[in-house]
Amino acid sequence: MNDVRVDVSGDQGPEQRRALITGASRGIGAAIARRLAPTYNLHLGGRTAASVAPIVRELPDAQPWPVDLADHPALMAATVGFDRLDVLIHSAGVAASGRVDELSGQDWRGVMETNVIAVAELTRLLLPGLRAAGGHVVLINSIVGRRVTPGWSAYSASKFAVRAFADALRQEEPLLRVTSVYPGRVDTEMQRRIVAAEGQPYRREELLEPDTVARHVYQLVSTSTDAHPTDLVLWHRGASPHEQVRER
Ligand SMILES: NC(=O)c1ccc[n+]([C@@H]2O[C@H](COP(=O)([O-])OP(=O)(O)OC[C@H]3O[C@@H](n4cnc5c(N)ncnc54)[C@H](OP(=O)(O)O)[C@@H]3O)[C@@H](O)[C@H]2O)c1
Repeated sequence: MNDVRVDVSGDQGPEQRRALITGASRGIGAAIARRLAPTYNLHLGGRTAASVAPIVRELPDAQPWPVDLADHPALMAATVGFDRLDVLIHSAGVAASGRVDELSGQDWRGVMETNVIAVAELTRLLLPGLRAAGGHVVLINSIVGRRVTPGWSAYSASKFAVRAFADALRQEEPLLRVTSVYPGRVDTEMQRRIVAAEGQPYRREELLEPDTVARHVYQLVSTSTDAHPTDLVLWHRGASPHEQVRER
């Protein structure tokens, strides 16, 4: 039988490839970390050393990268030393629910700060290292970055904004690959809070597994270097065809 292996190496050995994952302390980011751990030198982000400690215990070859992404001086300090970065995965994010007449300026700023401004700022700070490696930036967006539902204007607007950011980055930086991933609802702590805010029962069978998203992200960063995957939309299989057609 042939020994078929996936080549994740590009022009260098897989052991030398370096990846930074934000939001790696839990949920989708942690699932991506588990998938990438065997082949990448990982830096795992979360708000605090305490929040990233469990995933670093689980993946002892990985290094913690604790920083509050909304703290700009701390972010600048934390990006020193990334002279070469093969993969940057933006998974950190927050969701705020509320109708337009309920959301305060503070609610809007909180969502925009983490989901948009921190993504732009972190990418900008790491661009020299990404360029040096011919790197790949993956942005965990959301179905709500392609279609809007009532009660989610701020979260949706942040995801539309980061979609625009990704599209601009891809055109401005020809040395890089830039991929937006748009999952439907995923079984994580964030989704539990969303469903609670909607006052609905939590139905795991209607949600994607975090590892499903992670496996796709692994495939995306393993794409052979002649190709550029730009967008991936991942619906739950049970989503109605009507919903999927409405998606733009
Ligand atoms: N769950 C879904 O249904 C779903 C669907 C589509 C897209 N998404 C997107 O997928 C991404 C991951 O979501 P998730 O469900 O995995 O969320 P989650 O379980 O709530 O995890 C959020 C992650 O983001 C980190 N984070 C949040 N604010 C931060 C900040 N200011 N600085 C540093 N880290 C920060 C958290 O770190 P701490 O642990 O330190 O707080 C945590 O690691 C988000 O961008 C989300 O919008 C989620």
